[in-house]
Amino acid sequence: MLSEVLLVSAPGKVILHGEHAVVHGKVALAVALNLRTFLRLQPHSNGKVDLSLPNIGIKRAWDVARLQSLDTSFLEQGDVTTPTPEQVEKLKEVAGLPDDCAVTKRLAVLAFLYLYLSICRKQRWTKEDLELINKWAFQGERMIHGNPSGVDNAVSTWGGALRYHQGKISSLKRPPALQILLTNTKVPRNTRALVAGVRNRLLKFPEIVAPLLTSIDAISLECERVLGEMGEAPALEQYLVLEELIDMNQHHLNALGVGHASLDQLCQVTRAHGLHSKLTGAGGGGCGITLLKPGLEQPEVEATKQALTSCGFDCLETSIGAPGVSIHSATSLDSRVQQALGGL
Ligand code: MEV
Repeated sequence: MLSEVLLVSAPGKVILHGEHAVVHGKVALAVALNLRTFLRLQPHSNGKVDLSLPNIGIKRAWDVARLQSLDTSFLEQGDVTTPTPEQVEKLKEVAGLPDDCAVTKRLAVLAFLYLYLSICRKQRWTKEDLELINKWAFQGERMIHGNPSGVDNAVSTWGGALRYHQGKISSLKRPPALQILLTNTKVPRNTRALVAGVRNRLLKFPEIVAPLLTSIDAISLECERVLGEMGEAPALEQYLVLEELIDMNQHHLNALGVGHASLDQLCQVTRAHGLHSKLTGAGGGGCGITLLKPGLEQPEVEATKQALTSCGFDCLETSIGAPGVSIHSATSLDSRVQQALGGL
């Protein structure tokens, strides 16, 4: 089993176009961001293995010998995505969590243990291992909003820039290195309720809402075409098309009922700086993206970030197309990440 520190990271992601529509069988374009979340797994000379998930405040330690002595064949039985109550009971026994541990944290630890016992003995992951991670991430999504399309877990697992259509994933070849602002309005939202709201609106006004979804689909396809062209030979005109697509989609998403005053404010603030934004993901608050055209002066970008921060939002500048879930060597991580993981 594990004899060295294991460092794993997964990228943040955004949906460029097609959120909500993707739940109704339309195309979505999603990209992994160069913003990552990390976990560190470290065996100790005292025979323990530590799990540290700093983003959700989890620290646990297990006895390696105990894990090694476990008969893990129970994990190989049945469908990996729907563990039997017996499998969950066995994992709980191994995890040994206190009774007052929050359900979400408990589930994160159990999912981790399942994956650790199944695949973390390896130094490299195969396509099959990544598929397993993707399936488990999809189960996590199901807990959050019941009826996920699968686009979010897919892009975090596989990375890059993906086209997602009815469970079929393809990578965009040579996506351009777009720079964006990712702004968190910090307005909490309920993805399950927002997805249900769109479904209800579709049932109530099929003649009105179905064409909106078809139009969003066309926006995703046009964006895919333009990104393909940009990969070959980027030009400013293509950025202008991307901006128009962003504006149109943002209006459609508002018409679907998933906008929010904070997102309108985000769009207005960036518009005042000549930039175009849309919500990303479920909407109703949450995050928005803003396209940064090449040639923008850095002081202008900084002024926009400052204006967004003054609204009480968090704003990060980043680029798209990062690798998916990855294993790292300790020496390859920058010092800030090492520090966040408690030193290596
Ligand atoms: C949420 O990030 C994206 C939605 O399209 C839901 C989904 O695709 O599962 C709103």
